Amino acid sequence: MNAVMEAIVGRRSIRQFEDKEIDNETIENIIKAARFAPSADNRQPWRFIVIKNREVIRRLAEEVKKTMHKILKRRLTLKFSIKELKDWQQRQFIKAVLSQKKDFIFFDAPLLIFIISEKGIFNRESCACAAQNMMLYAHSCGLGSCWIGFAHSLNYNKAFRKEFGLEKEQFIASAIIFGYPKNIPKAPLRKIEADVMKWIE
Ligand SMILES: Cc1cc2nc3c(=O)[nH]c(=O)nc-3n(C[C@H](O)[C@H](O)[C@H](O)COP(=O)(O)O)c2cc1C
Repeated sequence: MNAVMEAIVGRRSIRQFEDKEIDNETIENIIKAARFAPSADNRQPWRFIVIKNREVIRRLAEEVKKTMHKILKRRLTLKFSIKELKDWQQRQFIKAVLSQKKDFIFFDAPLLIFIISEKGIFNRESCACAAQNMMLYAHSCGLGSCWIGFAHSLNYNKAFRKEFGLEKEQFIASAIIFGYPKNIPKAPLRKIEADVMKWIE
């Protein structure tokens, strides 16, 4: 395996972190990795909010929980917008996560980065490329990371949008936590090649 493939295969979503800060130079390099991602029309439709303040991260975890509770309660949202939430098991899983005392949203990570984008064709895809670059670069520095989909619920949280200055057209395209891993889990199983690959020769 070459170095890139090793990073791709070796990266894991990390949810337990050492109590250790990440220095600013490393953070700047994580952002650099994002900035050099491919983007549709080279539009680079991203802005980055870098949060190192643990108090703020903790507060945001509570805001995510509050917003998720509201989303779960709103029948219309359930019915029309987020089809996965129609699934009973999925809803039970989310409720279990939300009811935990420990931070099962941002896992007490020392760093949270939001990628902010705005409505536009392929903007989400471009930001996902940036997100993956960040996670792979972080892995290459011995850091762990995890994309936190739950945090996208903050897009519906008016107080958050105001505090972080999100304009009407802007939204969280990705939320990723980073930190030095306490332990590295086994890779969750991947679908086998034959199930996901079709050759046309
Ligand atoms: C778009 C997206 C959203 C995710 N949201 C969450 C999340 O909210 N909480 C979490 O613990 N993991 C989240 N993950 C991590 C996945 O659970 C993880 O990538 C998957 O189980 C595969 O494990 P691996 O990353 O270690 O290969 C998310 C991953 C992606 C790509």
